[in-house]
Amino acid sequence: MADLQTTYMGIKLKNPLIVASSTLTSNLDKIVKCEQAGAGAVILKSLFEEQINIDRAKMLEGASDMGYADGYDFFMGYGKSHFLDDYVELVMQAKERVSIPVIPSVNCVTGGEWIEYAERFESVGADGLELNTFVIPSDVSKNASYFEEIYLDLARKIKKQVKIPVAMKVSPHFTDMAGFVKKLADIGIDGIVMFNRFYRPDVDIDNLIMKHAPILSSPQEIYLALQWIALLSGEIESDFCATTGVWDGEGLIKQLLVGAKSIQMCSALIKNGLHIIPEILSELEGWMDKKGFSSIADFNGKLCQESSDNPEIYERNQYIKAVVGIE
Ligand SMILES: Cc1cc2nc3c(=O)[nH]c(=O)nc-3n(C[C@H](O)[C@H](O)[C@H](O)COP(=O)(O)O)c2cc1C
Repeated sequence: MADLQTTYMGIKLKNPLIVASSTLTSNLDKIVKCEQAGAGAVILKSLFEEQINIDRAKMLEGASDMGYADGYDFFMGYGKSHFLDDYVELVMQAKERVSIPVIPSVNCVTGGEWIEYAERFESVGADGLELNTFVIPSDVSKNASYFEEIYLDLARKIKKQVKIPVAMKVSPHFTDMAGFVKKLADIGIDGIVMFNRFYRPDVDIDNLIMKHAPILSSPQEIYLALQWIALLSGEIESDFCATTGVWDGEGLIKQLLVGAKSIQMCSALIKNGLHIIPEILSELEGWMDKKGFSSIADFNGKLCQESSDNPEIYERNQYIKAVVGIE
């Protein structure tokens, strides 16, 4: 029978299916359910810088008539440690309760104060850390390197701070994707998670207002990450993890074939329930048996650009085939 074990950022996984950072991993009961359903690991719901700020602001409002001069500093400190304590406690409890790897996630837009928090995850046994950096490059007065530097600065600082493996969940909005990911790898970022799926706006044409685009992805959204992982996984030393648009066993197999070491799922699990995890894993197992692969390593990355017989024409070949084939 096929062996589904794999390694992502040096972390051993019993299978490559990770439950993505989301409401599915926001508390202990849910994390336990992910393990019971058969997930290979969990990424905890992100600790948001914004939430910390809101927390602090609320407490500061209540502190306006406190009679001592350093009230502001006191509440600033309290706000941070209170919020962080809850999150660290969750990591600690999860590590006690489940045997699968537990990876906390920090949503950060600066390489500032939060970096000091990271050691606390390490001290309670977190298996790794995922950085969910949410920066939309929409400021016309800034250039590409300004936005890249936000990520690179974070990467340098966090790698100095912790010994556990660090993954960066990146956006698809980079001018020089290959060069940028190479820079992250050179800094020592252990995992590249492709791609972050930002909340996007839509237009309500009846009421002439903006509204939220669907929060859940669709299986058609798999292709962007598939393309970039295929292009880069054979050339970059960091491990790749695919997220966005993996809805079934076929999607998972495709991402492994192009070189992802693991995949993260969220929307399909929210929509269909965690019970699809064993179904997806048995689809993977059945496919491996049928193809004669006894381990993930037997086929992982087999279809990435680097493994292609003709890597230099890989992209153009696919394009010509697609365009010529259109009637
Ligand atoms: C309700 C919801 C909450 C999410 N919360 C987070 C989060 O806290 N941190 C994060 O990095 N990603 C978050 N995500 C993004 C997911 O981790 C995932 O990357 C994205 O949904 C794409 O994967 P999918 O196509 O399998 O849904 C969230 C997604 C959803 C739908």
